[in-house]
Amino acid sequence: MPANIVIGTQWGDEGKGKIIDILASRAEVVVRSQGGNNAGHTVVNNGETYKLHLIPSGILYPDKLCLIGAGVVLDPKDFIGELNSLAERGVSTSNLKIDPRAHVVMPWHIVLDGLSEEFRGNSDIGTTKRGIGPTYMDKYERCGIRIYDLINPEVFAEKARATGKLKNKIITEVYGGNAFDLEEVIKEYTEYGKILAPYVADVSVLTYEASKAGKTIMFEGAQATLLDIDFGTYPYVTSSHPLSAGVCVGTGVGPKVITNIIGVAKAYTTRVGKGPFPTELDDETGDKIRNVGGEFGTTTGRPRRTGWFDAVIVRHSVRVNGLDGLAINKLDTLCGLDTLKVCVGYKMPDGNILENFPPTLEELSGCLPVYEEFEGFNEDITGCRSFEELPEACQKYILRLEELCDCKVAMIGVGPDRTQIIER
Ligand code: GDP
Ligand code: IMO
Ligand code: MG
Repeated sequence: MPANIVIGTQWGDEGKGKIIDILASRAEVVVRSQGGNNAGHTVVNNGETYKLHLIPSGILYPDKLCLIGAGVVLDPKDFIGELNSLAERGVSTSNLKIDPRAHVVMPWHIVLDGLSEEFRGNSDIGTTKRGIGPTYMDKYERCGIRIYDLINPEVFAEKARATGKLKNKIITEVYGGNAFDLEEVIKEYTEYGKILAPYVADVSVLTYEASKAGKTIMFEGAQATLLDIDFGTYPYVTSSHPLSAGVCVGTGVGPKVITNIIGVAKAYTTRVGKGPFPTELDDETGDKIRNVGGEFGTTTGRPRRTGWFDAVIVRHSVRVNGLDGLAINKLDTLCGLDTLKVCVGYKMPDGNILENFPPTLEELSGCLPVYEEFEGFNEDITGCRSFEELPEACQKYILRLEELCDCKVAMIGVGPDRTQIIER
């Protein structure tokens, strides 16, 4: 009963969607356990591109059970939009289930996300403005609305009136914004509840039963380790636990179910939103990587910040997630660069070298990356399907990443399509 987790090791957008899509072909169940439509996962199959935000990437296979766990925050309006756009492209969503415990992103969460970012001014986090933080705030404040509530009109109306009244007060009196017409919101969202009702089922039970029956399960990570609320670059993080451990809490399964944990990284680093980025390239090389790699956000379209591969952060991910293997995507994007650099440690102001990612931004702020340099490559590697076919410079680069990160590189991405992968 293999149960694999696929998790992001950097600041997101490592190509998790592609790896899940590949591995889902060998699985029977695909589960999302946390985050919301702040995620944007791209799957490319035969020239057809799918961008998924809430629905697990396994949905493109008609026979896979796709589950959305209790730890997810679900925007019903966006979710229904995603259902409809998949239906228009002939993709069936009949095998999709949502846990009744998952929290609902309400319209006031989205407005409050925008208002609080505006209020922070230059100190904004650079969120996706999808209401993610405010929804998790209500969950932990214990005043959230859950999927179960949404599909039960009387329960929903009562809860929405109570919490909506407080949200209106905050929006108008703290931020000077416009109040919601609560009865209109209740009417609109009750309709969404009717559409969602047939999809609701206990995902913890379904996952447990699948595991007991010996079925192969894939847990699809969203966001990434450096965006984790505790182990990321706080406060420039998301509001959930995108770590491997978050999968158990967010699905309702015990850790002993998990058999294999794969961390996905790019052959370089990117980040959207604000916050520290030690290996960031604010120059022509950074622009080149952005343009060749098409580094523009899947969810918000924002240009992604780009930089060299940082082995300090990936080592951090290997440790906090207990990774069994790495998938290194987008090696092809580095083609044509004379020299490649990898950060192997951070030099502190006192001259000492830090090998572990520091817990606070204050400690990180005085650090400078220490680089190891590698010969670049000019060959087109997008058609390579075995490690031996890769140019020697690529092989050396990957083998050194393996050493530096203290983790086996099990997969190498050489293009966006599901076939453009080297498995070792
Ligand atoms: P996710 O959020 O981790 O699923 O990643 P995104 O889908 O947001 O961003 C990854 C981008 O890289 C997408 O446009 C993918 O199609 C693309 N991609 C994934 N793997 C590769 C690869 O090996 N090479 C290239 N050139 N593109 C890739
Ligand atoms: P996938 O699954 C990249 C970032 C946002 C912002 C911070 C907080 O596609 O890898 P939020 O809206 O979550 O409160 O924003 O987190 N962020 C992501 N960056 N990929 C993602 O998901 C992200 N999800 C959130 O850009 O910096
Ligand atoms: Mg993404």
